[in-house]
Amino acid sequence: MTHRILMLPGDHIGPEIVAEADRLLQALIDDYGLDATLEYAHLGGCAVDAEGEPFPASTRRLAEAADAILLGAVGGPQWDGLPRDKRPETGLLNIRSALGLFANLRPAILFPELVDASSLRPDVVAGLDILIFRELTGGIYFGQPRGLRTRDDGIREGFNTLVYGADEIERIGRAAFQAASRRGGRLCSVDKANVLESSELWREVMTSIAPDYPDVELSHLYVDNAAMQLVRDPKQFDVIVTGNLFGDVLSDCAAMLTGSIGMLPSASLDAGGRGLYEPVHGSAPDIAGQGVANPLATLLSVAMLLRYSLDEGALADRVERAVGRVLAAGRRSPDLAADPAQALGTRAMGDAVVNALDR
Ligand code: NAI
Ligand code: MG
Repeated sequence: MTHRILMLPGDHIGPEIVAEADRLLQALIDDYGLDATLEYAHLGGCAVDAEGEPFPASTRRLAEAADAILLGAVGGPQWDGLPRDKRPETGLLNIRSALGLFANLRPAILFPELVDASSLRPDVVAGLDILIFRELTGGIYFGQPRGLRTRDDGIREGFNTLVYGADEIERIGRAAFQAASRRGGRLCSVDKANVLESSELWREVMTSIAPDYPDVELSHLYVDNAAMQLVRDPKQFDVIVTGNLFGDVLSDCAAMLTGSIGMLPSASLDAGGRGLYEPVHGSAPDIAGQGVANPLATLLSVAMLLRYSLDEGALADRVERAVGRVLAAGRRSPDLAADPAQALGTRAMGDAVVNALDR
């Protein structure tokens, strides 16, 4: 069956980096047997300009019909003055919730050639390969009640609710166990079970489903210790699973171990295998239109799309190997280069990856 991939270039550098993803996917279709068609739609500021909404109904219909979605990035200063419901970022939040994308996957992989980009010592980070599963649609970012109010003594207070249902915990837990079983066989669940009842349940549910994955070794860490261990000895981790708030903080921390924002892909998955794939970085208005944006985070997002939504793990490996070869050959975009004057632009980096695919 032909896979339907929806491309959402978005704003500023979004179209520049998604153009390279398009060329990579076309090469995989033409020369490597990938059976897929690419469709295009608006999301973010470009959608506000063209259709008056950051997540138009036409985009929603195409997204619901797609097997996988590739997003560039949305946002920019020219839309900052709009009311919240018209802001580009609202389009992104709305597509995530409309599609029920509850599992956010953030790999932190250090390519050997970029070992000097990390702020940690080479021996601490060399060979790093972590995958974080962050629960994305529950927890304290969504819990009720929430709000701001004034107490009887006149002092204002703000309040939020951290609530997780056993069903929500089990869903993200099983996704993480499955990934761990395909990878290094180790899963670390991160919570604050010594203080929070929601974490007590989190730990209980993770422990109760563990027997279904006999090839995965489950461990537990409190979040404060997990943060410390990520910086002290990150290579002890294989897959990490955690809630929305803890995952927000830990995934940014783990990502930075690898050094460059231009190298980081991500996936947000629903229960049926559909996913939205995007680079971790934003729309970089400061470098838009110059053809210098690093496309590698987007091309690595294509690899995740192939692996997690299209079940094309061998093609995903091929793309990741090609990125490794390009770096090994000394090819660098300006954000990675010691001498930016010697660096390759967006198009040339994209070409280099396509040319480095093994025949
Ligand atoms: P940003 O990630 O766009 O840029 C931060 C810095 O990293 C800038 O100096 C930029 O030039 C550089 N950078 C980012 N991607 C790069 C790439 N591929 N190659 C080379 N350099 C790169 O974050 P910033 O500046 O905070 O946000 C800019 C806009 O993007 C805002 O409107 C923000 O709301 C939006 N944004 C969108 C996201 C998304 O679509 N998922 C995520 C984060 C921010
Ligand atoms: Mg964050």
